[in-house]
Amino acid sequence: MNTKDNAIAKQIEERYGQYARQILESDLPLPFNGDGSAPQTSQQAETLAERLYFDSQLVDLPTPVVNASIGCGNPVAIAKLKPGANVLDLGSGGGIDCFMAAKAVGPQGYVIGVDATPSMIDLANKNKQAMGLTNVEFRLGKIEELPVASDSIDLVMSNCVIDISPDKTAVFQEAFRVLKSGGRMVIADTVILGEIPPNLKANIDMWAGAVITPLITLPELLQCIVHAHFVDIQVEALTSYGLENFEQLDAASKKTLTDGIVWKPLPLNTGLYSALIEARKP
Ligand SMILES: C[S@@+](CC[C@H](N)C(=O)[O-])C[C@H]1O[C@@H](n2cnc3c(N)ncnc32)[C@H](O)[C@@H]1O
Repeated sequence: MNTKDNAIAKQIEERYGQYARQILESDLPLPFNGDGSAPQTSQQAETLAERLYFDSQLVDLPTPVVNASIGCGNPVAIAKLKPGANVLDLGSGGGIDCFMAAKAVGPQGYVIGVDATPSMIDLANKNKQAMGLTNVEFRLGKIEELPVASDSIDLVMSNCVIDISPDKTAVFQEAFRVLKSGGRMVIADTVILGEIPPNLKANIDMWAGAVITPLITLPELLQCIVHAHFVDIQVEALTSYGLENFEQLDAASKKTLTDGIVWKPLPLNTGLYSALIEARKP
């Protein structure tokens, strides 16, 4: 690892390690609005997972698993998982998508979650133990250098992780390497649509929690996927983060977004979105 990589690894550990420890210690959910404030009530606790997932996906999951969700989409919903499949989750966090996948692939299948933050791995293993699952494994590692064998995976998924990677080209090359021929990738990732003025972009990055690496545009992200030789690339859904309704945002969000600037309404089709994307290895 070079000095820059080391600095990024340290930032990831600081940011997500703090989140994981907060969950491990308090059983409260993680903050999801980027301002670092912790939710105060158990009602707020379920808000993010409830926003992202169908009730039927959450019904069997223990509260600590649901509370640990800090994704930005629902990749499992378009994963079309079959019993016996091998699944890999890039940046598995507290493990919510891994546990949903484990249920879908059954005892003949296997799910690996990779995460660079040791306390996220601890949190995921604690959740795994509580659920009594044996077909899920969490590995400490970077998604830019996956600790996973080549041509071994049927489905790669990821939920709100690649957007913070400083080397997206490496991530998609690695995803391609570990997939079997014909294997699929489904990801939820935060992207920019349109052109946002640089000072406003910096505030939006901060608000979205993209403090390690600035967010890129949807076309730039798709280009990285094309570059890694994926085919059948499709954007399945685009969900707005609601910046067009600035007045309806909470006070902390407004403060972050207007820090040092005067907020101007974004032009049509410009803003911050969660993109649900699928692609296939030929
Ligand atoms: C926003 S959280 C999403 C967690 C999980 N996918 C979910 O939906 O709850 C990002 C996760 O990715 C991990 N992460 C960030 N950068 C990473 C990298 N380069 N390699 C591996 N894990 C990374 C963090 O430790 C954190 O657990």
